[in-house]
Amino acid sequence: MLQPIIIALDFESKEKVRTFLDSFQNEQLFVKVGMELFYQEGPDLIRMLKDQGHAIFLDLKLHDIPNTVHKAMRGLAKLDVDLVNVHAMGGSEMMKRAIEGLAEGSRNSRPKCIAVTQLTSSSTTMMNEELNISGSIEKSVIGLAENAQNVGLDGVVCSPLEVPLLREKCGKSFLTVTPGIRLQSDQNDDQKRVTTPAHARELGSDFIVVGRTLTTSADPLQTYRKIENEWGIPYETPGS
Ligand code: C5P
Repeated sequence: MLQPIIIALDFESKEKVRTFLDSFQNEQLFVKVGMELFYQEGPDLIRMLKDQGHAIFLDLKLHDIPNTVHKAMRGLAKLDVDLVNVHAMGGSEMMKRAIEGLAEGSRNSRPKCIAVTQLTSSSTTMMNEELNISGSIEKSVIGLAENAQNVGLDGVVCSPLEVPLLREKCGKSFLTVTPGIRLQSDQNDDQKRVTTPAHARELGSDFIVVGRTLTTSADPLQTYRKIENEWGIPYETPGS
């Protein structure tokens, strides 16, 4: 069973990841490796995390012509991670070729593949005025999620606020992975649409992605426990 809390390892080096993970005292986690870290440390880092027993979301948000994405996914599948993603804006053919590539490159079952709809840093104004996409963010998110589901993707990355509508349109088994999570006491940073872990759970998120709340915490393990408690995972102090 995968942990519902995905820790975004947004660090620039393997050493910083090691130091951060040391605070978790060998606990097996679900971690996310994004562009910043993967572009610096590559497959070696993934092997290190796998050796430590962590589940991995490789968040590279592929977006290119279908043939390139197909071949890239065939290669990434060899890393044997649990979850990968593409931008739904790349279109249905690209998404279809992505999962074909994953299936071809996987030794076991293929990693789950989800689509990024609209980034949680986007706003309706930005989408309307800069990207020239009319209508609301929600309408765009639903259209992109339906395209992803129609070609066989396993779910989407979205804001927790979009989960109830996605459940209605795409059903219960379509995964929702939701960043933009903050504890009440945090800054929002560049995220425009944020929610707390408890609210994300109420809205029906399957997984929450937590970055800076943990990576900038003075005591990451204590903050992780706080998030677990809010999510509803009972935590008993060892020895109690
Ligand atoms: O620090 P913070 O909790 O905002 O980090 C969120 C993480 O989730 C980052 O690694 C970011 O790249 C990722 N993400 C996101 N919005 C998406 C997809 C991924 O914020 N739509």
